[in-house]
Amino acid sequence: MLILGIESSCDETAAAVVRRGDEILSSVISSQIESHRLFGGVVPELASREHLEKIEVVVDKALKDADVDLADISGIAVTQGPGLIGSLLIGVCYAKSLAYSQDIPLVGVNHIEGHVYSVAFENPAVEYPAMALIVSGGHTNLFSIPEEGKYKVISRTRDDAAGEAFDKVGKMLGLGYPGGPAIERIAVSGDPKAVKFSKAKISDGRPDFSFSGLKTAVSRYIRENEIEPVAADETPNQAVTDLAASFQKAVVDSLVRTMEKQAQELRPRTLIVAGGVACNEALRQASKAAASRLGIPVYFPSKHLSTDNAAMIAAAGARRLAAAERPSLTMSADITMRLQNLDNEGDFLLRSKVRYKL
Ligand code: KG4
Ligand code: ZN
Repeated sequence: MLILGIESSCDETAAAVVRRGDEILSSVISSQIESHRLFGGVVPELASREHLEKIEVVVDKALKDADVDLADISGIAVTQGPGLIGSLLIGVCYAKSLAYSQDIPLVGVNHIEGHVYSVAFENPAVEYPAMALIVSGGHTNLFSIPEEGKYKVISRTRDDAAGEAFDKVGKMLGLGYPGGPAIERIAVSGDPKAVKFSKAKISDGRPDFSFSGLKTAVSRYIRENEIEPVAADETPNQAVTDLAASFQKAVVDSLVRTMEKQAQELRPRTLIVAGGVACNEALRQASKAAASRLGIPVYFPSKHLSTDNAAMIAAAGARRLAAAERPSLTMSADITMRLQNLDNEGDFLLRSKVRYKL
């Protein structure tokens, strides 16, 4: 069973051919980072234009690299949401046209479920119940997965996603876009204990995340300590590397502390940590330490599968196709698509106050 995966929810145009859902035959990713760097973040209009230009080339290359043609493909899986509407529509419309013209079954995949399945290629099979921390530029969620395909939101961010906080702090420090990899690079020479950031307090006591106060605290620290942004090709000074390392530690501590506490209560058999921020070595090390205290394995995707790609979409789609799920060709992009919730708790409105002090 060969699945063609297509991903275009944000700023990567990607296609992949995957066998059964656990073996990658090809994975092509065309990144738009260079086009958006100038603007310090993703510009939605530019993103959809680039997807439109690239999608055909990227899908053709994925088929060619896998040495197959469309006639060999038994199902197409496309990211249906959440994401940017203009970007999603390019992938969804393209996938629908292929499915219709070649008479291939099509399924729409939730992008976040795709990140959960990014661990399917290089790790032993996930044992359920599982728990997944999905951390990227657009999402920060902790899910409990009592059985395959069923998700319950345990924690979510009240404001910024963790990757978004990395990107904003990267910008403040003059490190360019995306901030995550740049902060990690300079944090290696900094002291993570140099600046103490207090923990976010969620007033209703839910185990949620919050990063916007931390971002404000970093901004205040920069102002009060007269820290200059790093100029291009300049080596950052100790004050900057200390701040980067301390900020990174605050984000990692908050993510891992919550994951460990919830895992102590819910007793999953596997932990999954995925999404762009899962590239971060400090997060990987802290997650491994937590997993070893819990006595369970933690699975990460390798770094090229942590950021957005289509292999993970094909893997998540494989299960749905095997279960004979077939959306009608009238299905469309869904920018606020949610993972199937076991209850309605995930849909509550986020109105409580969040406090964060330096
Ligand atoms: O999953 P992804 O490619 O796209 C979204 O779905 O958002 O994640 C991109 C995010 C960016 O915010 C980027 O700064 C962050 O992942 N990121 C990192 C690292 N590499 C990428 N954050 C921290 N450390 C890294 N090494
Ligand atoms: Zn993503």
